[in-house]
Amino acid sequence: MLSKVLIAWPLLFAVLIVPIDAIVKCNGSELSARSDFEVGLLTEKQCTHVIGDIFIMNLNFAKRMPCYWSVREVHGSIIIRNTSNLGDSVNFQNLRTINALDAPALVISKNYRLKLGIGARLGHVYTRNPTTYYIAHNWPRMMTESQHYTLYNAAAKDRPVFFADYFFQTTPCAETAYKTLAAIFGCVSFLVAIVLIFWACYGRRPKDLKY
Ligand SMILES: *[C@@H]1O[C@H](CO)[C@@H](O)[C@H](O)[C@H]1NC(C)=O
Ligand SMILES: *[C@@H]1O[C@H](CO)[C@@H](O)[C@H](O)[C@H]1NC(C)=O
Repeated sequence: MLSKVLIAWPLLFAVLIVPIDAIVKCNGSELSARSDFEVGLLTEKQCTHVIGDIFIMNLNFAKRMPCYWSVREVHGSIIIRNTSNLGDSVNFQNLRTINALDAPALVISKNYRLKLGIGARLGHVYTRNPTTYYIAHNWPRMMTESQHYTLYNAAAKDRPVFFADYFFQTTPCAETAYKTLAAIFGCVSFLVAIVLIFWACYGRRPKDLKY
C-alpha cells in the first residue's frame, strides 16, 4: 500500500507539472475578438506566450473566454475597448509579463461593467510608449484585486502613467500633487478635530452638565 502511494506521488507531480511548464506560442490575432461573432473563433489552444496585440472589443454580454487563463507572456499590447456587461469573462490569471512595442501595454477604455481579472503574478510591464497603462472612461471602475482597484481610481485622468513594481503596487506620477492634497486634508482634519474637542469640553449647555 505504502509503495503504491510512493509510486503515485511522482506520477501525480508529473501530471501536474508538465502542462504548466509547456510553452504554447500563439499569435495575438488568435486571441482577439473584435465582435461578438469572433468570440466563437477564439483559439482553443492553451496559449502561454502570445506574439502580437490582443484586441477584445465591441463585445456585449458575458462570454466564456477561457483562452486567456493560460497566458503568461504577451509580446504586444492588451487592448480592451468598447465592451459592455462582460463581467469577469476576461481573466488573465496567469499573466506575468507584458512587453509592448509602441502602444501602452494595457489599454482599457470605454467599457461598461467590466471586471477584469489580472493575477498577482504580473510583475514585468514594459512599453516604449510614455504611457504604460491607459485606463479611461470605464464605468464602474472595477478590477478583481484591490491593488488594481487603486490603479483604476488613480487613472481618472486621461493619460495616466504608472510604474508597477513586482507586486503591481502602483504609484501615480503626480506624486507631489497627491502629497500636497494629503497634507491639506491632514491639516483640515486636524483643525476639525480641535474644534470638536473644544466643542465637547466647553460648548455644552448647562443642562447637559447636571450630573
Ligand atoms: C499573426 O496573424 C496575422 C493575421 O492573421 C498575420 O498578419 C501576422 O503575420 C501573424 N504574426 C505572426 C508573428 O505570426
Ligand atoms: C461598440 O460596440 C458595439 C457592439 O457592442 C457596436 O455596435 C458599436 O458600433 C461599437 N462602437 C464603436 C465606436 O466601435
